[in-house]
Amino acid sequence: MAGKKANIAVLVSGGGTNLQALIDAEKNGIIRSGTIRLVVSNNSKAYAVTRAENAGIRVEVLTKKAMCGGSQEEFERRLSAILEENSIDLIVLAGFMSILSEDFTKHFDKRIINVHPSLIPSFCGKGFYGLKVHEAVLKKGVKVTGATVHFVNEIPDGGEIILQKAVEVEEGDTPEILQKRVMENAEWIILPEAAEKICAQITGK
Ligand code: GAR
Repeated sequence: MAGKKANIAVLVSGGGTNLQALIDAEKNGIIRSGTIRLVVSNNSKAYAVTRAENAGIRVEVLTKKAMCGGSQEEFERRLSAILEENSIDLIVLAGFMSILSEDFTKHFDKRIINVHPSLIPSFCGKGFYGLKVHEAVLKKGVKVTGATVHFVNEIPDGGEIILQKAVEVEEGDTPEILQKRVMENAEWIILPEAAEKICAQITGK
């Protein structure tokens, strides 16, 4: 697909600050090889939905409990259909708080990336998400943390690492303060960079 842009779908569950970083990065040319075609939220109340609407991006809400009878299989069947309808080339998990099955991740091998708020392999895997990661970092007393963008496979936070950025833990940090510093100084920078890198590979640039 040389010359064409890769179609990106961003999957979200919450506030959507990483989605906003991707939207801004496309606007200011950091993302050149791809375009955000679609946002899928598994939470109808997520502020990320409003962010997508404000940017004029198509949004689909797909909830496992209310819309798929609690079935992961049904959720993934419907999600795959939405992605195919929109000719999606790259799926970006940006604060998407649900684990995808092996069937799904195998089907989209090397086409799903995720941002995680720690330096993998520290503070990752099942149970480590959102603020819980930063709480664990502070409890352990490590002095350096950061963020990682990685490919998604069947192992939670286990896929190949694409980019990482370190952030210092400071005296008196709370989980909230540390989360904000990791987002601002790492996540919002490396997620758009990684998205551009993979889109460029997909489009053969
Ligand atoms: C971000 O810190 C993201 O790295 C993390 O949740 C937050 C979502 O914020 N994701 C995970 O913990 C996934 N394991 P956002 O909705 O404002 O982008």
